[in-house]
Parts: sequence; C-alpha cells; structure tokens
Amino acid sequence: MTRPLLIAPSILSANFAKLGEEVRAVDEAGGDWIHIDVMDGHFVPNITLGPDIVRAIRPCSQKTFDVHLMIAPADPYLEAFAKAGADIISVHAEAGPHLHRSLQTIRALGKRSGVVLNPGTPASAVEPVADLVDLVLCMTVNPGFGGQSFIAPVCDKVRTIREILGDRDVDIEVDGGITPETAPLAASAGANVLVAGSAVFRGPSYEDNIAAIRTAAQQSIGRA
Ligand code: DX5
Ligand code: ZN
Repeated sequence: MTRPLLIAPSILSANFAKLGEEVRAVDEAGGDWIHIDVMDGHFVPNITLGPDIVRAIRPCSQKTFDVHLMIAPADPYLEAFAKAGADIISVHAEAGPHLHRSLQTIRALGKRSGVVLNPGTPASAVEPVADLVDLVLCMTVNPGFGGQSFIAPVCDKVRTIREILGDRDVDIEVDGGITPETAPLAASAGANVLVAGSAVFRGPSYEDNIAAIRTAAQQSIGRA
C-alpha cells in the first residue's frame, strides 16, 4: 500500500510572538499537517503550550492538527485537547502505565490516536497497541527541544514497525532532526509523515524549505 508522503511543520520552532501568523504561513507554504508539541517540564525538560493555545490557533488553518503530547500523566488532558481542536492526539508509550486506556480514550473522543516511542524504546512496544492506533510516531531525537541531531539508527526501528503493522491503515511519522539530508533516510525506511521544525522555520522561504524536504524524501522512494 502506498501512503502519501506528508510534511508536518512543528510550530515549536515558530516565532511564538506571532504564532497565528506562523501557522497560516506554513499552511500556505505547503505544510500538510500542523505539528503541535506539548511539553510539561516533567516528562520532558521543557514547557511549551496547552489546550488554550491550540484553541486560539485553530482558526488559522483547516489542516490536520497533529498534537504530540510530551506530558505525564496525559489522560487528564485528552478531552481538553480534543475540544480545543486536535485532529490527532499522540501519547508517549513511556508516559504512563495505562497506554491502552489513553488510546481508547482518544478514539472515544472521536480523534485519531497515536503512540510515540522515544529513541530508546524498542519497536516491540507497538505490538500490544497495533490495533488501537492510527499513527506511530518514532522520535529521532530525545524529545524536549528543537534543533537537535537526527539519531539515524531509529530508521531500523521504523522498518521493523512497518513490518509489525503489516497492512494496517497506520501512518508512521518521524520527529526530530529532519532536514533535506536526513528525510531520505526516514522515508526510505518506511516513514510517511515527516515532522520538521528548525528546518522549516528559517530563512526567507518556508515554502522552499518544505519543498526541499519533500523532494529529497520523494526521490529516495522513487516518487520524484
Ligand atoms: C522535539 C519535538 C519536535 C521538534 C522537532 O521534542 O517533538 O517536534 O519540534 O524540531 P527539529 O525539527 O528542529 O528537530
Ligand atoms: Zn513533536
């Protein structure tokens, strides 16, 4: 099954002083999803934004809001993010003891569910929840900050997860250190959604930045 290749700009690297404009800008520049990083200063060593900000930027784009929760516990906040306008809500496998409950809750809220694996978490963590997810997000950096270096061995894990998922209708997303240089490694391993923060929100043209990542990834899978 050929899945569309999607680019998801991460607004973690946006100018927070004009966040709405930045969301509109990456939408118009060709971003497919808007990736929203939620950090609590507990599960990860940084604090970002909550459901009120998601609600505030919701009118700025019709595109899929891909909410990546780096918070523990996550369950008490799932409904708030759903009501704020998330389309996909992803929780870390490492963030709590009741992963099935979190994923079932996300689906019961009418949203697409995602499980996120840190670089140190093995592919086998997907097996018990393979039928409960619409998305598997493989971190290619340790979460917490933008602008870190891509951890290339995660690509082997992406290949294994693609095998585990078989023909299930599940996207595989990678997040961290994605550039036109690293995107081909992830795409050729089987990732079809590429998150990029610092490689998008820089320079004169977000459009050129997104296009460069997309073209490099598509070339690597023979779709240029
Ligand atoms: C890291 C976040 C990423 C981050 C990626 O914890 O989950 O989404 O914004 O930033 P870059 O693309 O700069 O590595
Ligand atoms: Zn993220």
